[in-house]
Amino acid sequence: MTQRTHRPDGIIVALDGPAGSGKSSTAKALAARLGYRHLDSGAFYRAITHAALQAEIPVERWDSLTPAELDALEVHGAADGAGYHMTVAGRDVGEAIRSERVNAHVSRMAAVPSVREWLMDALREAGARGGLVADGRDIGTVVFPDAELKAYLVCAPEERARRRLLERGEPDVAPEALRAEAARLQARDEIDSTRAVAPLTQAADAVLVDTTGMEFGEQVERLARLALERAAGG
Ligand code: DC
Repeated sequence: MTQRTHRPDGIIVALDGPAGSGKSSTAKALAARLGYRHLDSGAFYRAITHAALQAEIPVERWDSLTPAELDALEVHGAADGAGYHMTVAGRDVGEAIRSERVNAHVSRMAAVPSVREWLMDALREAGARGGLVADGRDIGTVVFPDAELKAYLVCAPEERARRRLLERGEPDVAPEALRAEAARLQARDEIDSTRAVAPLTQAADAVLVDTTGMEFGEQVERLARLALERAAGG
């Protein structure tokens, strides 16, 4: 493929959208399809949340976390072949950051301005050479406003809830379970969309992709075609 981007390893693809819209799984598959690296920015917010809970820092104190306190939590995203894996004090926390406890607290942590600022360098560093598919809430608006391709993924609330429950291997997709999960996702979206710093919002130049009823492979291919066009200067 002819590279028309100024970045040595390829373009930057930014995927944003609400919880459960399929961003992370799509970003991961798209990165594999393009031979790019995948950056799941939510995993960084999750790892900080996990570390703060483990360190028993009271939630009421999170708003005033200083860079030194954040450094002391020893949260790192270590680059591996296909992406990044999260460690806290040198321990892999890949599973722990998906717990219900972290789910329930992570939006609160992600709304803290000092936390967002602290993370920015690490996230931007990951994109320094390009060749990256990054997903989150503010990737196209704040982290990589000059990304060559931006997509904003949306999906109907019940479908998002259904995917989350299936992902977790929960066999119970009864209407009440679905409604409860949809309410949890919407509560997180509400915090993510209304916070003062870098709220979840569609970038003006992002392509809107509604994944409701779309086959997974179809949505990955659609984005891959767009990415290849942009990489070729289209
Ligand atoms: O995508 P996720 O569910 O793993 O995200 C976890 C939380 O982190 C979610 O509440 C939104 C927040 N987040 C954010 O504010 N900015 C990002 N770029 C990525 C995630």
